Amino acid sequence: MAWKRITESQLWRSIFRHRFEDTPRNRSLTTVSNSLLHLHPVTLPRDALQVRFTFCLGGLTFFMFLVETVTGILLMFYYRPVPEYAYLDMKLLEHTVRFGMFLRNMHRWAGHAMVILVMLHMLRVFLTGSYKPPREFNWVVGVMLLVVTLLLSFTGYLLPWDQIALWAITVGTKMAAATPFLGADGPFHEWFGIHPGNDMRFLLLGDSDVGANALLRFYVLHCVLLPVVAGLLMFIHFWRVRKDGGISRPL
Ligand code: HEM
Repeated sequence: MAWKRITESQLWRSIFRHRFEDTPRNRSLTTVSNSLLHLHPVTLPRDALQVRFTFCLGGLTFFMFLVETVTGILLMFYYRPVPEYAYLDMKLLEHTVRFGMFLRNMHRWAGHAMVILVMLHMLRVFLTGSYKPPREFNWVVGVMLLVVTLLLSFTGYLLPWDQIALWAITVGTKMAAATPFLGADGPFHEWFGIHPGNDMRFLLLGDSDVGANALLRFYVLHCVLLPVVAGLLMFIHFWRVRKDGGISRPL
């Protein structure tokens, strides 16, 4: 009964569009809802081609993600995430590798552009009312993408291991220490026995200060975990755009 109430709810139906009983209709619906088979639209409404409606901001954000992936992989060939080498490697890349400075700047500027574009994209979606049903689930996926984009930007900031990186992450992780319940300096931390040795800041840094452990953690998050999560969320995001009838149209 409770299960039925859940599967009949608007929240559930906004994510799963077909029922589970083994009927010919449900079987065909499972196929047509398959993301792999349906990344390309069957038809393209003329209005959807109007640049001024979307300014292709989502597409441009995705393009920046691709630029970040390609330049990021190339940067990994020259960078070692240990305090002895991180800063030196960036300088060596800039001054001894052909197009090294260009490569590093491309990664840095495309990263900034991605943060700005994702915010503008969100603003466009909001102003055109495209968060409304049936697109409410895709809005939630979008919010997750926004958080992951900001985390990618934050974790990348530490990697050059220069003064600005060190102090930015010191400030940022001190903010984590001020989180309610989970930070040792935050309100209600005593409820769960949280102290500086087991709080949110310690989890992020792997230590009580910004040092070698933090550099390694941020490197793994920045180069492996967060890009994989972002890629998966984008896959779901694009599939939902299709399944929600393509992008919304001007009224
Ligand atoms: C890395 C981040 C993101 C990427 C790569 C991305 C990509 C895209 C793309 C390519 C589209 C098709 C239309 C267009 O280009 O504007 C789209 C649509 C959409 N996005 Fe995003 N997006 C991202 C983040 C977000 C965020 C932060 C939100 C909102 C919180 C959001 C909500 C939506 C919604 C609701 C649609 C459907 C809009 C419509 O039908 O008009 N997305 N996204």
